[in-house]
Amino acid sequence: MTQDNRKTATQSWDKAGWRNYPRVQMPEYTDPAALAAVEAQLRQYPPLVFAGEARRLRNELAEVAAGRRFLLQGGDCAESFNEFSADNIRDTFKVILQMAVVLTWGAQLPVVKVGRMAGQFAKPRSAPTETVDGVELPSYRGDIINGFDFTADARTPDPKRMLAAYTQAAASLNLLRAFSTGGFADMQRVQSWIADFVGGSEAAKYRDIADHIRDAMAFMQAAGVNSETAHQLSKVDFYTSHEALLLEYEEALARIDTTTDTPVAGSGHMIWIGDRTRQPDGAHVEFCRGVQNPIGLKCGPTTTADDLKVLMEKLNPENEAGRLTLIARFGAGSVGDHLPRLIQAVQQEGANVVWSCDPMHGNVIKSSTGYKTRQFDSILREVREFFAVHNAEGTIPGGVHFEMTGKDVTECTGGVRAVTDEDLSDRYHTACDPRLNASQSLELAFLVAEELRARREAASPARRAEAV
Ligand code: PEP
Ligand code: CO
Repeated sequence: MTQDNRKTATQSWDKAGWRNYPRVQMPEYTDPAALAAVEAQLRQYPPLVFAGEARRLRNELAEVAAGRRFLLQGGDCAESFNEFSADNIRDTFKVILQMAVVLTWGAQLPVVKVGRMAGQFAKPRSAPTETVDGVELPSYRGDIINGFDFTADARTPDPKRMLAAYTQAAASLNLLRAFSTGGFADMQRVQSWIADFVGGSEAAKYRDIADHIRDAMAFMQAAGVNSETAHQLSKVDFYTSHEALLLEYEEALARIDTTTDTPVAGSGHMIWIGDRTRQPDGAHVEFCRGVQNPIGLKCGPTTTADDLKVLMEKLNPENEAGRLTLIARFGAGSVGDHLPRLIQAVQQEGANVVWSCDPMHGNVIKSSTGYKTRQFDSILREVREFFAVHNAEGTIPGGVHFEMTGKDVTECTGGVRAVTDEDLSDRYHTACDPRLNASQSLELAFLVAEELRARREAASPARRAEAV
């Protein structure tokens, strides 16, 4: 694109422009007046995030693209109104902090922390309706759209749910901001939580790494570096993200950033486009191309190299580092079939992207007991395949993307505190996809950290010379 064309394309963008493009996975609201009233109200509400924060995240993601930071994105598949509580937010945040410290040790790089939190409410579904005992009703599409209960009333899309979702997102973000800076996230505390985890007999095999982290902290303490002397140790930067699926909501929260005079999505720091809504000429791509936030793009087995090229041009015409994160989700055993051709497409275009691995969405199976689940080993295997392909291609595996919770749920099988098919019924709470529980999440971080360390050691000439 020439400079002039690019300007025209950006200038012609309007936050309501997506309405002229084909849309999929969005509800049909039956009461246009009620919808319009909610949209008008949301337009008056303050944005949830400040454009400067979205820009800071973009700069940090540019560092990820260059291999100088590592990205950890994680949280619920779908946040729910029912599970909304301070304890839930705290517990998920707490696990993400621990995972980040473990990954920092593995990568020897700062970790950029992004929650699937404070806005992750809308869900794409594989079928528009669900049939139970001969009764057919619209599928559940997330609490921002309709209710989970299997009744005609609950399943009817209700625009007022957007206001409840906004309020929940605002309160969640408020608490997350307090936790991030108010002393809760102190590195010393995080290290002691990790020590508690490996103190149990099941996780003892990770004690070595935890000891390294403890020793590093002790060394810093001895050298006079602690939360009083170094601010970085007592607070963290934490960002929010969600799938930009419900475009009426996204449009109503879009704002013009007065610092740069460009549009910004006010609903969260980073938004992403799902695997089912990434049509190059569709409404979701049209909306996302015009806001300055970092954008995620899910890439699945059906993503073609040609589509990816068009999408990169549309979503990141200036080829800015940190603007676009490609989130690969192929399924264990399939990464090698798809990732190389997409990496090659990126290289042919000279495109600047972050590569992240979502080992969740390609690995959903039905358990022998009938539950929708994911096996810990498949999740780990997909991450390892992702690293192996990047090693072979000489490109940078920039981050990981997990569906997880800080609660002790039984939704995914496996891990050191092994959850079996029979256990799934004990605490299966998700309204959507199965999540890693706190222990499985932290264990996965240890295993990814080991991968990162192996990669680092293989790349270091001094180590290689030592080995010879
Ligand atoms: C998700 O991230 O919850 C999701 C639905 O993913 P995907 O679009 O990759 O299927
Ligand atoms: Co999901």
